[in-house]
Amino acid sequence: MARILLGVSGGIAAYKALELVRLASAGGHEVRVVQTPTSRRFVGEASFQALTGAPVLVSEFERDPARGAFPGQRPPTHEPLSHLELVANAEVYLIAPASANTIAKLAAGLADNLLCSCALAATCPVLVAPAMNNHMYEHASTQANLQVLRERGVEVLLENIPNQLSSAERLLTFLELTHLKMNFCLDAGHANMKEGVSTAYTILKGRIRSTHLHDNNGKEDSHLFPFFSEGGTIDWKNTMELLRPGVCFA
Ligand SMILES: Cc1cc2nc3c(=O)[nH]c(=O)nc-3n(C[C@H](O)[C@H](O)[C@H](O)COP(=O)(O)O)c2cc1C
Repeated sequence: MARILLGVSGGIAAYKALELVRLASAGGHEVRVVQTPTSRRFVGEASFQALTGAPVLVSEFERDPARGAFPGQRPPTHEPLSHLELVANAEVYLIAPASANTIAKLAAGLADNLLCSCALAATCPVLVAPAMNNHMYEHASTQANLQVLRERGVEVLLENIPNQLSSAERLLTFLELTHLKMNFCLDAGHANMKEGVSTAYTILKGRIRSTHLHDNNGKEDSHLFPFFSEGGTIDWKNTMELLRPGVCFA
C-alpha cells in the first residue's frame, strides 16, 4: 500500500485526523504524522503514535527515533534531518485539518514549524483539507491563500458533499483513488459494469496517477473501477459523489 505523511494543524477537526489514521492503517497504508504545536492542544501525539505505531514529530529540532522511516521501512544507518527524510519517503503529503493559519503560512512559504517545512521540502503531491468556521473560510485572505496554493500545484480538498461516509472515510478513499498506488479488483461479471465503465473512465483518467486494475483472473484491465459496496457491486452513488471536485474535512 502507500506511505502517507499526515500533517495535523490546530483546529476542532483534528479529532477527525485520528479516524483518518485509524482507517488508513487498517487499510494497510503506512502513516507518519507531523503536528503543529497548537494541534497538540486538540489531539495529543500519544494517540497518533498509538494508531500509526510510529513516532510523531512536532519540531525539526527533536530527534526522530525512526530516522524518517515509515513503518515497515528500514531506518537509514545515519541520522537524517527529519523534515527532509520524512517527505522524501512519503508518496503523498496530506495536511488535514489545515487551519486558516497554516494555510496562510503555506501560501507565504513560511517554514517556522515542521509541518510547514515538510510542505516546502515535499516533492510528492501535497493536499490540504481546510477545516474552519465558515467566515474564516470565506474571508478574502483565506480564499486568496488557497488560490495561491492551487496555482502552485497543491490540491485543495473542500467541497461539503452530504454522504453516508464519514469525512475521514471520504478523504481516504479520495486519496486512494487519485494519488495512491492501489490495486482495485474489477468485478467483471457484474451487470451494470459496462454502461458505467466509460463514464467512470472519463472522469477518472485525468486524476488517477498510478492505479492498476485487474479483472477477476488477475489480468490488468485498462478500465478504471473505483468503488465497491459491501456486496462487491459497484456503488455508483458514492463513486460519483467522490469524484466531484473535492471532499470535505470540516
Ligand atoms: C477551540 C478552538 C477551536 C479552533 N478551531 C479552529 C478551526 O477549526 N480552524 C481553524 O482554522 N482555526 C481554529 N482555531 C484557531 C487556531 O487554533 C489558531 O489559529 C492556531 O494559531 C492555529 O495554529 P496552527 O495552524 O499552527 O496549528 C481554533 C481555536 C480554538 C481555541
